[in-house]
Amino acid sequence: MEIAVAVRPFGSKRPIGVPRRRFASSCVRAAVAPAKDEAGVSDLRRLSTAAGPLHPGSDLAFERILVQGLAAVKPLVIERVEPENELLAVLVVEKEEEEMKRVVVKVAEERKEPAVEKEAWRLLNDAVVSYCGSPVGTVAANVPEAEALNYDQVFIRDFVPSAVAFLLKGETEIVRNFLLHTLQLQSWEKTVDCYSPGQGLMPASFKVRSVPMDGRKDEVEEILDPDFGESAIGRVAPVDSGLWWIILLRAYGKITGDYTLQERVDVQIGIRLILNLCLSDGFDMFPTLLVADGSCMIDRRMGVHGHPLEIQALFYCALRCSREMIAIDDGSRSLLRAVNKRLTALSFHIREYYWVDMKKINEIYRYKTEEYSQGATNKFNIYPEQIPSWLVDWIPEKGGYLIGNLQPAHMDFRFFSLGNLWAITSSLTTPRQAEEILNLMENKWEDFIGNMPLKICYPALEHDEWRIITGSDPKIRKPWSYHNGGSWPTLLWQFTLACIKMGRPELARKAVSVAEKRLSNDQWPEYYDTLTARFIGKQSRLYQTWTIAGFLASKLLLENPEMASIFTFEEDMELLEGCACSLTNHPRAKCSRHVPKAQVLV
Ligand code: GLC
Repeated sequence: MEIAVAVRPFGSKRPIGVPRRRFASSCVRAAVAPAKDEAGVSDLRRLSTAAGPLHPGSDLAFERILVQGLAAVKPLVIERVEPENELLAVLVVEKEEEEMKRVVVKVAEERKEPAVEKEAWRLLNDAVVSYCGSPVGTVAANVPEAEALNYDQVFIRDFVPSAVAFLLKGETEIVRNFLLHTLQLQSWEKTVDCYSPGQGLMPASFKVRSVPMDGRKDEVEEILDPDFGESAIGRVAPVDSGLWWIILLRAYGKITGDYTLQERVDVQIGIRLILNLCLSDGFDMFPTLLVADGSCMIDRRMGVHGHPLEIQALFYCALRCSREMIAIDDGSRSLLRAVNKRLTALSFHIREYYWVDMKKINEIYRYKTEEYSQGATNKFNIYPEQIPSWLVDWIPEKGGYLIGNLQPAHMDFRFFSLGNLWAITSSLTTPRQAEEILNLMENKWEDFIGNMPLKICYPALEHDEWRIITGSDPKIRKPWSYHNGGSWPTLLWQFTLACIKMGRPELARKAVSVAEKRLSNDQWPEYYDTLTARFIGKQSRLYQTWTIAGFLASKLLLENPEMASIFTFEEDMELLEGCACSLTNHPRAKCSRHVPKAQVLV
């Protein structure tokens, strides 16, 4: 079977027939010929790409290339159902979809917005970026008088809360356009010192530029210019971008009921390219992803290299999203097996080795070291002297959390909020661990929320630690500022999601009301400084879009808590059974600690 489709085939970095150029082509439109399903029946419903222009008004001819052997994709809206329950499951899903639509309409039509929300919506709409006449994203910050740096670009991670706000308001076009256009930018021709990023990489950000048209005087065309980190500080590839893209793609499908987007062949290829990049073999011994420093929200040197929690939590979540979305065909079966295997290993590894609470810290305190055997208890040779003095006093009797990073002979005991929150949302933690993380945050309210939610990490680095770990970065020299323990209001929507998932919306409500008192007066800053977030960040941007959108998303989620399900996942017993089984049945099971099954599951 051959499908004509306007996407890159595997093994090619740009669409066939498209001239080599520095930028992504302008105003693209997809075109897919009807495919046939396994029974040979043409199924137009599945071929969403055939459904006209990418966005209204875009009418340019689209480059057509051939992708061979891709079976028509299967609508995947249900997780693992037995055939006899299939009809029931379909009905349940349809009912859920109807309910979602009803809520979105209610949000769009009936809400009486308080003034602060009205202002936030106005600012969010002002931040919208158009490309060829259609909305495709939001700029990072919209302060015309300030030096733009790269804040005039659409950042993938920054757009996610904007997308949530728009989706919950029923404005879906911008999200659809964003997903499709960023897909077109995936791993484009960009290099740092003659070296190109891996295929499948999504850019950190993109900018719409007007450039003179080849050979036509006085005429300009709009192009999308992606940045894969080659212009960013530190020149680090944004590992989180592709993971966010997958997470947003699933959310879009769940809320709109428009699964045709994720079924498109080009979108399916996009998902697979990201997964191939993440799942490719390397030298690593752990199921966690090995990354360079600054490859996520914390995008400068902060000691978040190796296996930082933030990346692992987003990775886990993206794998679970992909499992729902990947079309099952001959080409994807082994990929799906790899996804399942990785999910199992990842959840075991994180639940077991990243978790700390009073009991576990006491265990580490009494660790034997230098154990060579496969039955070692202290598997990573952690010297108990590493337990920082702040932790000894700080860790409450009730509550625990996932540490920031785990490497040979090194545990980074700092608490990183984004990673912990996504671990709850995606069920990377056990239900008990999820409870305990929220208990800790509640218990240490002043440290995490204080005068503005939410601390990016706790505690801040100081003195020699700051010098050695950050390489003396002056922007984070002050403790409790920016990435070094500053407070970032955008994290509020992710806290809200986790609280709703755990049935504790009142915690989120309390945090939102703290934010609501200040954000508008303070002109929606990017971040706050000091231990309890009393001051607007020293070099903080004002009118930061993800601050605005994060606030709106939190409000809308709290009003419609059922909508949190577009991002959340429940515990998957099958994955956990795999985990417990490999511990007991694996020929080299002894190399793992004897973890009782109950510990993996609870
Ligand atoms: C800063 C943040 C990064 C964000 C970007 C745009 O670089 O560290 O996470 O994406 O600003 O807001």
